[in-house]
Amino acid sequence: MPGVFKLDTDGPEQTEALGYRLGALLPYGAVVALRGELAAGKTCLVRGLAAHYAGAELVSSPTFTIVNQYGESPKLYHVDLYRLSGPDDLADLGYEELFEPDGVCVIEWAERAGDLLPERRLEVLLEHGGGDCRMITIHDLGVLPERWEEALSG
Ligand SMILES: Nc1ncnc2c1ncn2[C@@H]1O[C@H](COP(=O)(O)OP(=O)(O)O)[C@@H](O)[C@H]1O
Ligand SMILES: [Mg+2]
Repeated sequence: MPGVFKLDTDGPEQTEALGYRLGALLPYGAVVALRGELAAGKTCLVRGLAAHYAGAELVSSPTFTIVNQYGESPKLYHVDLYRLSGPDDLADLGYEELFEPDGVCVIEWAERAGDLLPERRLEVLLEHGGGDCRMITIHDLGVLPERWEEALSG
């Protein structure tokens, strides 16, 4: 299927490396929606993104703050909606500011945002594949440049 890329990773460092490669492809203003159960590797992927943009080493989920920010150009906004009860909470937060063109916004537990996600976005699904295997599916909804699948496969 065009616009879809699947990759299995065998450990956290591989998922992080995928995030790093993805960081090289995302344009300013990109929104990345991460879906997947607890320990699926969402934060791990963000760690790779942050390494690309900011050389950041200490990425943890922004449990109490909801949003963390890394780097400057672009800014990486790391959002975790785990503690959100639903899209209404998000509307109260002024979340639209996160989708501005000075940054790239990556959202864990994106399913909690309901309809509030922009139509143009990158959808990333992370699934447990047994042991350290994670099955990762990336679906581009109008964000990435041509031939991104090749660039991502490394
Ligand atoms: N292939 C893999 N990719 C990512 N994480 C993995 C992988 N295999 C094992 N793990 C482990 O799974 C956990 C993933 O945690 P985390 O990235 O915080 O997940 P989430 O943010 O989805 O809850 C970490 O403890 C990590 O070491
Ligand atoms: Mg997480």
